[in-house]
Amino acid sequence: MSTDTDDAYHKIRAPARAKPTGCPVDHNFTTFADDYLTNPYPSLAKVREEHPIFYSEKLGFLVVTRMQDLLDIFGDHDVYSSENVQDPVFPVSERAAAVLAAEDFNPVAVMSNKQQPDHSRIKKYTRQGFSARRMKVLEPYIKKRSHELVDAMVANGNQAEFVSSFGHPLPGQIIFRFIGFPESDDEKLISWTSNRLAFTWGNPDEEEQVDIANKMLRYWRYCREFVATRKTQRADDLTSELLDAHDANPDELSYREVESIIYGLSFAGHEIVSNYMSNSLLCLLPRRDVWDALCADATLIPNALEEVLRFESPQTSWRRVTNVDTEIDGIKVPAGTQVFLSLGAANHEPELFEKPGTFDIHRENAKKHISFGYGIHFCLGARLARLEGEIAIQTLTERLPDLKLVEGQSLDYSPNITFRGPKELLVEWG
Ligand code: HEM
Repeated sequence: MSTDTDDAYHKIRAPARAKPTGCPVDHNFTTFADDYLTNPYPSLAKVREEHPIFYSEKLGFLVVTRMQDLLDIFGDHDVYSSENVQDPVFPVSERAAAVLAAEDFNPVAVMSNKQQPDHSRIKKYTRQGFSARRMKVLEPYIKKRSHELVDAMVANGNQAEFVSSFGHPLPGQIIFRFIGFPESDDEKLISWTSNRLAFTWGNPDEEEQVDIANKMLRYWRYCREFVATRKTQRADDLTSELLDAHDANPDELSYREVESIIYGLSFAGHEIVSNYMSNSLLCLLPRRDVWDALCADATLIPNALEEVLRFESPQTSWRRVTNVDTEIDGIKVPAGTQVFLSLGAANHEPELFEKPGTFDIHRENAKKHISFGYGIHFCLGARLARLEGEIAIQTLTERLPDLKLVEGQSLDYSPNITFRGPKELLVEWG
């Protein structure tokens, strides 16, 4: 069992929860409220104006909403540790914990929740894996799969559920090819990685927890077997590159770290990109003039997608925990305080973004959003996510220029503290 050690990838534990004194306390704010799930921006604007830093009694987090405070916190990794970012927000049931207590379930922290100096040691190798050359190798595959998924949508009529027919499979298949997993395993891999975010950031019931935990275990075993295969059969993929690095210097990058990087990447780079694609359609399709402009001129797509990341980010928060007693804007924050960094609030700060509630594809500073984080943990997959988004939207504008949302549908969002995207999205064309 490796869920209770300091270097475990998943820590099944009750995290430290110190409570700062002398700061405003909000008795109502929670990301699980219906109105927050439907649209978090009005309540974020309200709390940011009332008290930009406050303690949320319902969440048990110190909530920080202003961009400059977020940049300072992300930038100070000695004081604000990322060790809590993969901790389940709510206690894990005994049955789910028992599944993950399997002797061979032992992925270790390697990136988002790994601390210095090991984080930089490992990131050197993962960054090399996300090279410009690797993106070039992947680009034709992303285009091909985007077209094939549209072909399948069109072959089924003139209406589709976008998440299951395009938004979820596409980023999954891309990350699997990037890692090197064979196409023949896509179906089972996609089923194992669905709804994974609920385990850590949501509030799933016991049955769901057990289901997800079983999938995590199967997926970990699959990753280990795959890495073992690549030990003797190298190919042009990330796993082979990491194994080459391990062979060249086993003390610098351990074999368990290679297995754990492979395990973590498909989660880090899958559901969030699926949400990013759905959120893009939610921003673009109802604004017909904007969609038509992108259909007529694809060079507008990159900035339009930066504006999506600012306006309707698939990730609206992230976490840190204080290592030592500290202070933010005069508020005393004891060691062990859980900090909720509201990326969504900062991305809509009126002092930084003029008319933040207006979706503007020509916004000059759209790229100044903080949706990929900041500092040493800045998103490893930002370049890949941008490439995937651009190819997906370009393919849809070219192939289905009359695409629109099905009218009258109500959207359902998975209750959680961090990620945002509709569970289903009905679209039609023709
Ligand atoms: C639109 C899509 C995405 C968004 C909004 C996003 C957002 C983020 C954020 C906010 C962080 C935390 C940064 C910090 O702590 O400062 C992060 C970290 C990370 N992301 Fe992404 N991400 C996206 C796509 C991807 C993809 C496609 C991959 C991989 C294929 C990926 C892999 C990672 C990894 C490995 C980390 C941890 C990096 C580290 O700790 O050094 N992400 N991402």
